[in-house]
Amino acid sequence: MTRTPIALANWKMAMTVTESLAFIRDLRAAAADLLHLVEVIICPPFTALWPLNQALGPGDVQLGGQNMAATSDAAQTGAISAALLHDVGCHWVLLGHAEVRQAQGDDDETVNRKVQLALEVGLAPILLVGEGRDEAETQQTALARRLAQLLAGCTPEQVARMVLVYEPEGAIGLAAPAEPAHVAAGVAAIRAWLREHMGDEVAAATRIIYGGSVAPEHANALLASPDLDGLGVGRKGREAAAFAQIVRQIAVAKGL
Ligand code: PGA
Repeated sequence: MTRTPIALANWKMAMTVTESLAFIRDLRAAAADLLHLVEVIICPPFTALWPLNQALGPGDVQLGGQNMAATSDAAQTGAISAALLHDVGCHWVLLGHAEVRQAQGDDDETVNRKVQLALEVGLAPILLVGEGRDEAETQQTALARRLAQLLAGCTPEQVARMVLVYEPEGAIGLAAPAEPAHVAAGVAAIRAWLREHMGDEVAAATRIIYGGSVAPEHANALLASPDLDGLGVGRKGREAAAFAQIVRQIAVAKGL
């Protein structure tokens, strides 16, 4: 089974509307030939979603929200629901990012509720899963425990439409990503869990990427893992030239 690889940029609380539009223009100029080979997903701040939606065409970069509310009740001042993300053209939504867990106190159960709400309106979750900083469990045990909680109640078909991001909490915002061997083991553990709990077909179809301090100089070593279907990028995902280079590295590593 061939899985279309993914390059994901999470802009976090950065990028004005003007900067966002300039980024898309520069990315297209640098990587137009790759957009049909690699699925490129940008998760801008909420404020840039609609202008980007208006600037994008079919077969172009895709949009995702960075987070959403764990409820569809409209009485939530300052929050954004799954339905509102869908309305501005998001196909995707990032769920379970360590920064959101920390700032908003989201636990696995809350993230699972968000997963269900996203699926209800037709958004595909980009689900982050990784061991915590001080977890006593092994990598494999921590991932299995989290996956069971995060994906509780999801059908195999729903899981196959998601993207799973292996992102150890301690690997975000550093000078270099986690060791390639550690990343390869984490991604393999996620795929093995999918095989056991969701079946061979879903395990073979689901895209699993890595996130945490990714930069062009480290991308090739990470991409050597055959289980890895792409990369998620924070800081370097705001620089069009660096991100375009990562998109190209993904395409080359996957033989495209
Ligand atoms: P970083 O962010 O690439 O800047 O480390 C990654 C993330 O938070 O997902």
